[in-house]
Order: sequence, then structure tokens, then C-alpha cells
Amino acid sequence: SLPVPNVQSLAASKEFTEVPGRYVRPEINSSPVLDSAARHGDIPIIDLSRLDYLQHSQDEVLKLGLACEEWGFFQLINHGVPDKVIETMKVVIEEFFRLPLEEKKVYEQLPGSVEGYGHASVVSEEQKLDWGDMYFLSTRPVSGRNLKLWPTNPPIFKDALDQYSEEMQRVANILLEAIGKSLKLNKLIDNFKGGLQAIRINYYPPCPQASKVMGLSPHSDAVGLSVLLQVNDVQGLQIKKNGAWLPIKPLPNAFIINLGDIIEIMSNGKYKSIEHRAVVSPERERLSIVTFHSLRTDAQVGPLQAETQEKSEPFYYKDH
Ligand code: SIN
Ligand code: FE2
Repeated sequence: SLPVPNVQSLAASKEFTEVPGRYVRPEINSSPVLDSAARHGDIPIIDLSRLDYLQHSQDEVLKLGLACEEWGFFQLINHGVPDKVIETMKVVIEEFFRLPLEEKKVYEQLPGSVEGYGHASVVSEEQKLDWGDMYFLSTRPVSGRNLKLWPTNPPIFKDALDQYSEEMQRVANILLEAIGKSLKLNKLIDNFKGGLQAIRINYYPPCPQASKVMGLSPHSDAVGLSVLLQVNDVQGLQIKKNGAWLPIKPLPNAFIINLGDIIEIMSNGKYKSIEHRAVVSPERERLSIVTFHSLRTDAQVGPLQAETQEKSEPFYYKDH
């Protein structure tokens, strides 16, 4: 991975008038962006309190299944994550990004690794660059944490991230279990028990030529399940729907959930890992936190067979 300029300081520099060529993305306008005010249909809303194994509502499991099949994205309400945990996380993140560059650079990504403060991996001098910085940390299993890369300033950062990580794992476990139920794949969750969790904080500075740059290039998430929290009220997430980009407006106090490639594969393609991207604002910075949930390192990726489904014996076509 090649070193890349820090976008936050580039955007703040006095000499900055014209976006450097490497950030200009003509393809940003190659697919239409839907007007979110005109009702193109919003992503579904799922109520986590109804999926908890105690409450366990069959209706909500069905609704979840449909959301995964038709959208691959949904908003999660009644998730039970304490306000205090969310608010503290938001505050420490905003404080961290306000630190001078030299202080943030102490936690800089090492060559060849995405963990730490830096950018999405850049592999060639020609590669176009995203208008954003990021801070990526492995959070679970706890034994896999590289605490040297966890900031000591603000002093409560570690504690805030630890609590946030634990809450995210609780939410993900309930969702993965319910996703397994909706597919009649009760063993799906087993592959995620003790699985990997990582947290990425995305920082998108404002850009005076916002319509020319991309905060985060289109991608689908390689993991199982992602939980996204928009930190401030600046929108930017867009998802691909029927060949167009649909801007997503997070509900107050909701998380945005999306399925990653692993769930698409395990569900045999029934559930979708949807392409998405982030655009930036001309006036205001935007921050988001995404928590990735992935498999245990010893789990195998492949389509799972439904428990109720008879395994078909191999046969010769001529006999059929
Ligand atoms: C992501 O896809 O990781 C983040 C998108 C966003 O910032 O909203
Ligand atoms: Fe993503």
C-alpha cells in the first residue's frame, strides 16, 4: 500500500483552491442519483427488540428476511444500545480528528497494513483517491487488539471504543441469529461466534468541489454484517438500487445495517451484499463509524444447506 496525502490537512490548507487531479472522479455522475424526497421507497426498518431471542417475533424475522432479500440494507431501531455509549463514542471521535496532524500520525498505518490512521489501501500511483481519511482498528477478539494503535488522547477513547465494540457485538449476534432463522440456517451464527470485529471511522472533510470527488468509492463489504453510525447530521451514504444511487437518510437513533459478501455467499445468493458509496458535502465535514463483523478465522466460507432441505444424492443425468 502506497503513502497517500492526508485529506483533512489538504482540505484545510490555505493554498487549496482546485481539487488535485487524482481526486477528480468523472464517473461520479455516470449513474443517476435518485431524489430522496421523491418517494422511491426507503430502506426497510427493523425493530431489534422484536428479534431478541426472548421476544422472538416470527413476523419480524419474516420482515428481516425480506429486507435482506430485496434490499441488503435496513435501518435498525430499538437496538437497546445506551445513548451514553453512542454519544461518548461520537465525542471522542470528533476530538480525535481535531487533534493536530502530528498527534494523529503517531497512530499511522504501518506499511502493508490498513490498521491505524490513514486511508483505504492504494496500490498504484495512477489509482484515483477518495476524499477522506480513516482510522481502522481491530476490536475483537479482544486478544487481537493492537493497543499501540489505540489513541491515548482523548483519555477516554479506549474505554469508549471498548464499550461501543461490545454493544455492536451484542447487536450483531442478535441479527446474525435472526438472519440464520430467516434462512432456516440455524448454524449460520456458529461461524460468527468468536468472530472478527473491526471498527473503521471515516472522516470526510468538506470539499468546495464536492460534486467532483468521492468520499468513499463504490464497493460492497467483504464481511458478514456491517453496522453503520452516522456521527453528525451530514448525509453522504448512497446505495445502488436498480442501477441508480439512492441517498440514505438515517433515522434518529437508528443504525444502518448492511449485509456483506459472506452472508450473500452463505445464503447461496438469496441475500444481497449491495454496492454503496459515500459522497461529501461542500460545506461541512462528515464522520461515520462502521463496525464490521466477520467469521472466525477457522470458519469456512461457502453456501450452507438448509437443515430442513434433503441433501440430494448425486445422480447420472441419463438416469434422470
Ligand atoms: C462505508 O461504507 O464504510 C461507510 C459509508 C458511509 O460513510 O456512510
Ligand atoms: Fe461499506
